[in-house]
Amino acid sequence: MAMLKVGMVGWRGMVGSVLMDRMRAENDFALIEPVFFTTSNVGGDAPAEARGAKLLDAKDISHLKQMDIIITCQGGDYTTEIYAPLRAAGWKGYWIDAAKTLRMKDDAVIILDPVNMPVIRNALTKGVKDYIGGNCTVSCMLMGLAGLFKADLIEWMTCMTYQAASGGGATHMRELLTQYGSLHAEVKALLDDPHSAILEIDRKVLAKQHSLSAEETQHFGVPLGGNLIPWIDKDLATMGNPGMSLEEWKGMAETNKILGRGAGFGTVATPIDSLCIRVGAMRCHSQALTIKLKKDVPLADIEQFIANDNEWVRLIPNERERSIRELTPAAVTGTMNIPVGRVRKLAMGPEYLSAFTVGDQLLWGAAEPLRRMLRIILEK
Ligand code: HSE
Repeated sequence: MAMLKVGMVGWRGMVGSVLMDRMRAENDFALIEPVFFTTSNVGGDAPAEARGAKLLDAKDISHLKQMDIIITCQGGDYTTEIYAPLRAAGWKGYWIDAAKTLRMKDDAVIILDPVNMPVIRNALTKGVKDYIGGNCTVSCMLMGLAGLFKADLIEWMTCMTYQAASGGGATHMRELLTQYGSLHAEVKALLDDPHSAILEIDRKVLAKQHSLSAEETQHFGVPLGGNLIPWIDKDLATMGNPGMSLEEWKGMAETNKILGRGAGFGTVATPIDSLCIRVGAMRCHSQALTIKLKKDVPLADIEQFIANDNEWVRLIPNERERSIRELTPAAVTGTMNIPVGRVRKLAMGPEYLSAFTVGDQLLWGAAEPLRRMLRIILEK
């Protein structure tokens, strides 16, 4: 059988590069005929997987139309510009991306197959052609807590997030490190002197944070190094949700859509509310969760539900040493592991549970669900 033509768009950016690495590691390219597109270097050299073919124009509908599947990490603006004209031109292929543009469309599925394979299979059977990766925070949380959702134990939940710079993009990661560098340079001489006064160091760091240049805060708007930012993405005040950020809104909307719950599925949505915070981590999003269970379930059973759900979740015993070593962005970055720890019942009652989870937002939060969706289509 002829191999399916898979158009790769946005493969050179940060998420795209992570996707390429994962596809190479899993030997995905052996199963497809990849065609590489570009928005900036038409006719240039494509990666080795193109077997000598040159880069095609990612805005040229006539080329895109030849693809059986398009996977794009080019971002929402590209999807907004190209998707509708491509469909209008009669293209019937599978569109796989990770942008928010199409995510909440009724006939698009949010893909996270370890969690919602039945939803994906049902959509494939019905002929759905748009498969969209979820918000990174939501996907990482669900990979950790899927066991409790599947057992239908969650009455409601709050997510307090600690989101890494990478969620903003590559430029934001660079900005964070530049800020850390500026702060360190400001007090290096004092740090080198073991007798210097810590309050003097602190005062100088604060003064430097307040005086960072516009260039040094171009992307976050304010210092993130040595600071945090308690708002992520748009303010939904003008859209009828005063006091809520778009990132916070996605927590409930996308989680329910991934799980196939809520009005669109004729069921009641699980209430989930979030407070989303940017912190100075590089590429792992962490979340502190408060969960109201539907009933009092023994802690050992809860741990089993979490631990046994999928091959990537790691239940970390609620102990100091294990928590500080295994439940952190530095421990998780670059791995597919989703540790869940700090699991315990709360003082509010036996149905109240806390948990903490960490996930690499470029892997499970972005690239991985896309390549897994490709495999699902190929194996269909
Ligand atoms: N919106 C997320 C963030 C990234 O800013 O961290 C991708 O979902």
